[in-house]
Amino acid sequence: MKVRVLTGITTTGTPHLGNYVGAIRPAIAASREAGVQSFFFLADYHALIKCDEPDRIERSRLEIAATWLACGLDPQRVVFYRQSDIPETPELTWLLTCVTSKGQMNRAHAYKAATDANVAAGEDPDAGVTMGLYSYPILMAADILLFNAHRVPVGRDQVQHIEMARDVAQRFNHLFGQGHDLFVLPQAEIEEEVAQLPGLDGRKMSKSYDNAIALFEGGAKALRESIARIVTDSRLPGEPKEPEGTTLVTLYDAFATAEQRRAFRAALREGLGWGDAKQQLFELVESQIAPMRERYDALMAHPEEIEKTLQAGAAKARAVAQPFLAQLRNAVGLRPMLASSTTKRQSDAAPSKSALPMFKQYREADGRFYFKLNDAHGRLLLQSQGFDEGREAGAWVKRLKAEGAAALAVAPATLGDGVDRAAVESALAALAAAEQG
Ligand code: TRP
Repeated sequence: MKVRVLTGITTTGTPHLGNYVGAIRPAIAASREAGVQSFFFLADYHALIKCDEPDRIERSRLEIAATWLACGLDPQRVVFYRQSDIPETPELTWLLTCVTSKGQMNRAHAYKAATDANVAAGEDPDAGVTMGLYSYPILMAADILLFNAHRVPVGRDQVQHIEMARDVAQRFNHLFGQGHDLFVLPQAEIEEEVAQLPGLDGRKMSKSYDNAIALFEGGAKALRESIARIVTDSRLPGEPKEPEGTTLVTLYDAFATAEQRRAFRAALREGLGWGDAKQQLFELVESQIAPMRERYDALMAHPEEIEKTLQAGAAKARAVAQPFLAQLRNAVGLRPMLASSTTKRQSDAAPSKSALPMFKQYREADGRFYFKLNDAHGRLLLQSQGFDEGREAGAWVKRLKAEGAAALAVAPATLGDGVDRAAVESALAALAAAEQG
């Protein structure tokens, strides 16, 4: 099996240059690696936790889907879908919720931060805290475990959530796995190297600081205007400038080759004016962003195309999720009611196939054909008479498997020493159940 890499993108806000450099670009590059199967999804159920404005939810999902596609995510190559198109996700969330300890959720960062802030403000600790926020990590665990992801690239702030997913997976495996693991234990993958791009004011680029440069919104004009607002020192053109550590150069680096970086630094040391430097930065970024922006605008003009892409992605995702969830339902005991369900459960519990009774067919030195039935420990339960043809022995084995006690009553065979008929009947029933399962 290929290594499965999965990551979710919370659909709030409009993507900025920092998102592109820090998350989108490296993730798309990673999705092109050989030997990995990538799952990318729009975490729109998670978005509902933070936002109760339907129009913003709708707009943000569309913008973020269009952004990832425009930036080169290949929906043929990766599984690209919306969380809310996968009904197995909330279903698994419930199964996991039932084995997650409340105490552990009390310690989740996002929830703790909310209660701490409430306490500091002299409020009830849970003021304004929804169950959505409280259970956020369980929904996230379901996202990950449903696809048995091995690796989960996330920001540092999300590492605790991956740890929680591992814990829940472990508990579930222990309770319901019957000796073999149902869930892969996921590993957080933190991109240590990922540049935290500075914003216009030099602090980390973030919507909440109002210092972000929009990735596509507003077009080339907005990009140029944003870059013009980058804070620099007051050195004049002609004065030598120290490039290291400046916001302008850090932004430039994020898009430049090694050669361009050297040349840019040298020019600043020789007195390149900040205005001209900003022009160079604009041209560099624009040369890379412009073709993507064109694709973005085309996609935004045809939301129905994006919808189609996401539906196709959901179908791919559900082809994995649906059968797996059926297995998980069965594991916890949500099973169809069948005539044989009690014995079936017993046979499910059997650690391996070798624990089942077994038919053997063979030919003796007398040239005749026989069958026998042994129990799991090799004790003889049933011994046939000799047949002239191998086919006849085979036909009786088949009948005994299919009809159980009814065939036993008429089969040309005798019970093993000290074996009672009921034991043979139940052995046949176990075999039949295993055959069905
Ligand atoms: N909580 C993540 C974030 O805010 C988004 C997310 C939701 C996610 N489900 C996930 C990330 C599953 C990785 C795997 O960034």
